[in-house]
Amino acid sequence: MEHALIIIKPDGVQRKLIGKIISRLEEKGFLIMGLKMTFISEKLASNLYAVHKGKDFYNQLIKYMTSSPVVGIGIKGINAVNVARKLIGSTFGQDAEPGTIRGDYAISKRFNLIHCSDSQETADKEISLFFKNEELLDYDTADLRWIYDTSMAKYV
Ligand SMILES: Nc1ncnc2c1ncn2[C@@H]1O[C@H](COP(=O)(O)OP(=O)(O)O)[C@@H](O)[C@H]1O
Ligand SMILES: [Mg+2]
Repeated sequence: MEHALIIIKPDGVQRKLIGKIISRLEEKGFLIMGLKMTFISEKLASNLYAVHKGKDFYNQLIKYMTSSPVVGIGIKGINAVNVARKLIGSTFGQDAEPGTIRGDYAISKRFNLIHCSDSQETADKEISLFFKNEELLDYDTADLRWIYDTSMAKYV
C-alpha cells in the first residue's frame, strides 16, 4: 500500500466542495489515514512547492495556497500516487478530462482545487510536513476485502 498527501486547496473549501472531493477519494477505494483543516503557513507552502521556486507563477501560487483554509487528507491505497493523480486529472482545469475531479469542477490553471503528491518519496515527505505522527491513524475497514482481493499475501 502506498500513501499520498491530498490537499483540498482554498478554492475547494470556499466553493464548498470538501464533501464531494472526500467522497470521490473514498468511493475509489482509498482509506483516509489523516484529515485536518488548517491554514497553510508560508513556510509550509514554500516547502510543498519548493520545486517551483523561481517560476513565474510561484509567488501567486504561495499567495493562493495561504489565502484561506485548506483540508489535508492523508490517503492509503494500492499505487496511491498514480491512481489519485488520475482521479484528480491534469493540472489545468481547462485541460482536465471530464470525469476527473478537476475536469468536472475546475476551469482555471491556478485554481484547480486539489494538490496531490507526485511520487512516493514526496508523499512521505509531504505527509510528515502536514501531519504529526499521532494524527495519522492505521486501521482497516470491514469492506477492505471487497475493495481489494485480500486473499492474496499482497493485496491485488
Ligand atoms: N502555468 C501556471 N499558471 C498558474 N498556476 C500554475 C501554473 N502551473 C502550475 N500552477 C499552479 O501550481 C500548482 C503546482 O503545479 P504542478 O506541480 O505542476 O501541478 P500539480 O498540482 O498537478 O502537481 C498547480 O496545481 C497550479 O495550482
Ligand atoms: Mg505538483
